[in-house]
Amino acid sequence: AYTAKIGPSILSSDLSQLGRECERMMECGADYLHLDVMDGHFVPNITFGHPMVECLRKAVGPNPFFDMHMMVSRPEQWVKPMAAAGANQYTFHLEATTNPGNLIKEIRESGMKVGLAIKPGTTVEELAPWARQIDMALVMTVEPGFGGQKFMEDMMPKVSWLRSQFPSLDIEVDGGVGPDSIHRCAEAGANMIVSGSAVVSSSDPRSVIALLKDVVLE
Ligand code: DX5
Ligand code: ZN
Repeated sequence: AYTAKIGPSILSSDLSQLGRECERMMECGADYLHLDVMDGHFVPNITFGHPMVECLRKAVGPNPFFDMHMMVSRPEQWVKPMAAAGANQYTFHLEATTNPGNLIKEIRESGMKVGLAIKPGTTVEELAPWARQIDMALVMTVEPGFGGQKFMEDMMPKVSWLRSQFPSLDIEVDGGVGPDSIHRCAEAGANMIVSGSAVVSSSDPRSVIALLKDVVLE
């Protein structure tokens, strides 16, 4: 009874070939692309910003859905630039802002969908007051900052609780998800599944994506 979309995270891919990597993931059956933006301040790592997103949009054309995971300290700052660059969804961290309500409004006004993310140490009760105003909740299953970490199964009660309270909310999981852990996520009620290294570092991403889809379609 599960159905979920698979969004590869290209963080672990060859960053000098990002356009080609995004195209390759779409050709291999990805439903959307999860793009990790890190500012070296909210998390101890740096990736890329809106100029890169603008180039990627040109490279892959209008169709692939860009889910921007904004691991940045001042998420307010990048809403307009990301919308202009061709982002479809803007997922910010609850821990990074003092005024989620205003940010949600700005993201919507800029024409993007709204995602709200929580780190492993943030409770789901802190996210709940905003759940009816957002399109997607992102429950992190690793500490944000790096690909290739171990899946935290103890985050699954957050997903189940959100699913029980908000049946039509999109719920995404991100961090350490692959063929061994995706079943737990789907069972708990996640319907947007990010998978980074399991897909991107595989010699056969098409088969891994097919395998992940198989699990969530059962
Ligand atoms: C971690 C990022 C994730 C990460 C996922 O901070 O938000 O999107 O790249 O990669 P894996 O699946 O390797 O944990
Ligand atoms: Zn991410």
